[in-house]
Formats: sequence, C-alpha cells, structure tokens
Amino acid sequence: MPFALQAAILPQHMAKKKIVITLDGWSSCGKSTLAKQLAQELNYIYVDSGAMYRAITLYFLRNHVDWTDTEAVVNALENITLEFVYNEKSQQSEMHLNGENVEYVIRDLVVAEKVSDVAAVKEVRTFAVAQQQKMGKKKGIVMDGRDIGTVVFPDAELKIFMTADNAVRVERRFKELFAKNPNVSIEEVKANLEMRDYIDSHREVSPLRKADDAVILDNTHLTEEQQFNKAIQLVQQRTTSTVS
Ligand code: DC
Repeated sequence: MPFALQAAILPQHMAKKKIVITLDGWSSCGKSTLAKQLAQELNYIYVDSGAMYRAITLYFLRNHVDWTDTEAVVNALENITLEFVYNEKSQQSEMHLNGENVEYVIRDLVVAEKVSDVAAVKEVRTFAVAQQQKMGKKKGIVMDGRDIGTVVFPDAELKIFMTADNAVRVERRFKELFAKNPNVSIEEVKANLEMRDYIDSHREVSPLRKADDAVILDNTHLTEEQQFNKAIQLVQQRTTSTVS
C-alpha cells in the first residue's frame, strides 16, 4: 500500500509530525536515490550534502586554491556561495556555485578524485555544516552524507546508515559514470571508491561512522522498492505520535 494511502487512513487521534531524516553511508550505496524518494513521498526538502563538498572542490580546482593552506582556504570560502535551486525540467534541486549551475560537472571523476581531501579540511566542514544546520531548522528534511547523523543533526528523529557490498557499489557507480563517459574504466571507478571510503572514514574531523542510534540498511540484495518500503516503515514509526 502506498505510504500516502496509509497516512490517509490513520485514526484521527494520531498526528503526523515533521522530522529530520539523516542518511549516511559509504560512497555509492544508493543514499541519494532513497533520500530523493523519501523527500518526494513525504513532501520534505532533500539536501545532497556531498554536492556542497563537490562544489567547493570544483571552486578550489578552478581557482588553484591550495587546500593544505588554511589562509588560502579561509579566503576562498569567503568568495563561495552555494545554493540548491529547483529545476522544473529535471524536477530536482540542483547545486549552484556562485550563481552557476554545476550539478553535472561536480559529478565528474576529476572532482571525485579530490573531494575527499577537500572535505577533510576543518574550515571547509565548518562552512558546510553551518549551512546544512540552517536548512534543517524547520525540520521536514532528508539529508544524505557522511556525518549528518553524527555531527550535523545529532538529534535527528530518524537516522539511517546505508551500506552495500563493495562489488555492488562499484558496479552501480561504474554504470552511472559510463553512461556519461564511455572512456571510464571499472578499475578507475573501483580505485576511486576505495580511496574515498578510506579517507572519509579515517579523517580527523567528523569521519564517516554510524551514529549509535542509526538503523543499518544494507541494500546489497534489496530492490529500490524493497529498500524504500523498509525506510518508509521506519519513518512511520517515528512520525505517528498520539495526540491526547
Ligand atoms: O555523497 P558524495 O559521494 O557526493 O560525496 C562526495 C564526497 O564528499 C565524499 O567523498 C565525502 C564528502 N562528504 C563528506 O565528507 N561529508 C558529507 N556530509 C557529504 C559528503
């Protein structure tokens, strides 16, 4: 039964409250797919926090900013404005860097190769996290990333930690990138995923880890629909509160 239908037949004394949903996990384990589906179903805002780190990386690469130099990073961040702008055509929010739509260029392997290093810089994280926390003030938000349940929204009502077998993740990311660039090789994609996972989970500031109160969702053997149904059940458990 679709979620909207289930919600419609809730008894009158049961009210639905808006919550914060965090989706963290390894690279390419389907976080954004699930996050978008949940946001659409619940009429929540979806925020792809990785897009913010990717856009900052793109700016640093284009402007030859040395991210090992704190002063250079602080100065560069002053010149960066990030915005999610809804595109009617693609029906999704797209990342704009200083007014330019960079949603597609930030997915490139050139950016992917450097983004984990840039995302490990303390000043970069402080800059991004402050904006992410602002977006979640009114709740009704689904945000995916690496530190959303641990650092950005430690009090979120629903935290999901997503995972999948390495081979499955490599295959998924390869298909995605190959569709855009047939010159990309599976070895290249595998090396990039392994490198990012290592850096993301071993960095000093806000490393990727499961929040103690997060629910693990391993989708290695799940279809998108099965995964969505599991997540919706978790949402229902946390949004249905008894009103006296
Ligand atoms: O989710 P993604 O693959 O687009 O994220 C790109 C990179 O950004 C990823 O390698 C780690 C980093 N990231 C992060 O450090 N913290 C987040 N909340 C989101 C992403």
